[in-house]
Amino acid sequence: MTERAHAERLDAADPLRGLRAAFEIPEPEPIYLDGNSLGRLPKATLERLSALVRDDWGGRVVRGWDAWMELPVRVGDALAAGFLGARPGEVIVSDSTTVNLYRLAVAALQARPGRRVVLAAADEFPTDRYVLGGLAEARGLELRLLETDPVEGVAVGDVATALGPDVALVCLSHVNYRSGALADMAAITAAVQGAGAMMLWDLSHAVGAVPIDLNGAGAQLAVGCTYKYLNGGPGAPAFLYVRRELQDVLRQPIQGWFGQRDQFAMGHPYDPQPGIGHFLTGTPSVLGLVAIEAGVEVLARAGIEALRAKSTALTELVIALWRAWLEPLGFTLGSPADPARRGGHVALRHPDAYRIDRALVERANVVPDFRAPDRIRLAPVAAYTRFTEVWDAMDRLRRLVEAGERVALDPARSRVT
Ligand SMILES: Cc1ncc(COP(=O)(O)O)c(C=O)c1O
Repeated sequence: MTERAHAERLDAADPLRGLRAAFEIPEPEPIYLDGNSLGRLPKATLERLSALVRDDWGGRVVRGWDAWMELPVRVGDALAAGFLGARPGEVIVSDSTTVNLYRLAVAALQARPGRRVVLAAADEFPTDRYVLGGLAEARGLELRLLETDPVEGVAVGDVATALGPDVALVCLSHVNYRSGALADMAAITAAVQGAGAMMLWDLSHAVGAVPIDLNGAGAQLAVGCTYKYLNGGPGAPAFLYVRRELQDVLRQPIQGWFGQRDQFAMGHPYDPQPGIGHFLTGTPSVLGLVAIEAGVEVLARAGIEALRAKSTALTELVIALWRAWLEPLGFTLGSPADPARRGGHVALRHPDAYRIDRALVERANVVPDFRAPDRIRLAPVAAYTRFTEVWDAMDRLRRLVEAGERVALDPARSRVT
């Protein structure tokens, strides 16, 4: 498994090898392992956006809205069917993950009056903790942060023991942003909802990387990013999911005109659209939505099961090479070793991880990312990463550490890591 020829054989046998051609990729370098932060540009997106800007914005100007109005729901439906296991009309794409998390958390808290505890994982992505902390403060509630295993992630038992009649809302990531640990969505959802609390999932690091079955899990609420594995582009709007049965029960706090029943009557007072429609707020990002639609179509051609199978094989290769080459050099595995418990990326831990990460970028033409305090994240994205790229990146990593390359680098952190 440590021979390059092994990776070459995996590439030759890869049923998804043709999908790489659907992306803009500068050949032969760099080796890009950061698609869990920002996915690559699909070629179709270039064409779609050029046509949109030139013909629709340039040509039709405001009349373009006749077609654009339906985009948040149409793109949501495509995501629901291909990647989220949700029904039509349960997902919309609008605003950012941070804003959507806020909106759904408020809606959930309003549905559980009298309960005063919000639960989240202590190593949850910062924006989630900040949003929930701010909300708890504003409403006189308590945000309780659960200590979970830094490698294996949140276990059903961690959540179950923290539940009680006081808990209003639990918010967790399906795939942890640092470790890549995959939470048991169905079991946790059942435990939380069984205790009478609302459950809100952050699917940012899961969508497009692992199969998700929101309906099957009985999930109530979810949000997630589209610029990672879905390749929607920098700052592309996020999605939100509200289970059909809850849509007319819950109220979200931003009563914008796009959520109004007869929007262009410009009337008063606010009269929310039925269904998912009142979760819309203001004017949607048309450029972002069109880019997401193009990205989702490219991935849907492969299907999430095939993407997951390749992703698992890619991360297994990372781990096999870590064990053979990097463990002896002082790296520890920061992700679950069991592929069934892992999402699409692998974290390797090292006390000098920041400088090693910089050395990889600056001296070895490999792009991973760094997450404080000691993790290098490697995301070999199934849609466009080759097994030989994984092998080459790991080979460069071990050589660079063996040669002490990082020592000359400035330990001061750059603004974006
Ligand atoms: C788990 C998770 N939630 C939320 C976000 C932030 O989303 P946004 O900045 O688009 O609001 C990220 C971004 O990486 C994330 O990883």
